Amino acid sequence: MGNTIKTIFSRRSVREFTKEDVSDDDITTILECGCWAPSGLNNQPWKFVIIREQEKIRKLAECTRYTKTVLGANVLIAVYFDHETSYNRTKDIQAIGAAIQNMLLACDELGLGAVWLGEILNQEDDVNTILNAPKNVELMAVIAIGHPVEKKRTSSRKGLEEVVFREDFNTKW
Ligand SMILES: Cc1cc2nc3c(=O)[nH]c(=O)nc-3n(C[C@H](O)[C@H](O)[C@H](O)COP(=O)(O)O)c2cc1C
Repeated sequence: MGNTIKTIFSRRSVREFTKEDVSDDDITTILECGCWAPSGLNNQPWKFVIIREQEKIRKLAECTRYTKTVLGANVLIAVYFDHETSYNRTKDIQAIGAAIQNMLLACDELGLGAVWLGEILNQEDDVNTILNAPKNVELMAVIAIGHPVEKKRTSSRKGLEEVVFREDFNTKW
């Protein structure tokens, strides 16, 4: 099995981090992986904000129920949809999802832990204020990143028979 497929299966959301620093090189690699996601017309409708300052992390932690995860993270990446580069809202948001997944897979391969935080969107106005977001951008997610606390992490998925059909929706896998 190739690396990508192995990483897709082994990646788990990580919500507890050690105090160890994430290097600037690793952050750059993660961001490059995000930027190499596919996008419609190659419009790359994303913008990213890297947050490392403890005071900002503390403020952002108050914008979500996942306070502990945010507080424990060494780096946060706020992922934004830039309406100015948009051509189709649905496709642009799909592309941003692909960029986020690329970054999560990169974290796993670098030995880092990460989790995609969506619940924080409930407080997007506060996040935008903290990050001085201009009018033309829309918050899509925050990714919390750090070195993972060692522990067994499991997850599950629906079986293919539940989600896949053969030829049309009348025939199950
Ligand atoms: C759109 C989206 C939003 C999510 N929001 C949160 C969140 O706010 N907090 C959290 O702890 N995990 C969040 N997750 C992570 C999911 O809970 C996790 O991916 C799912 O339970 C499967 O577990 P796994 O990633 O370990 O395979 C989110 C994932 C996605 C794709």
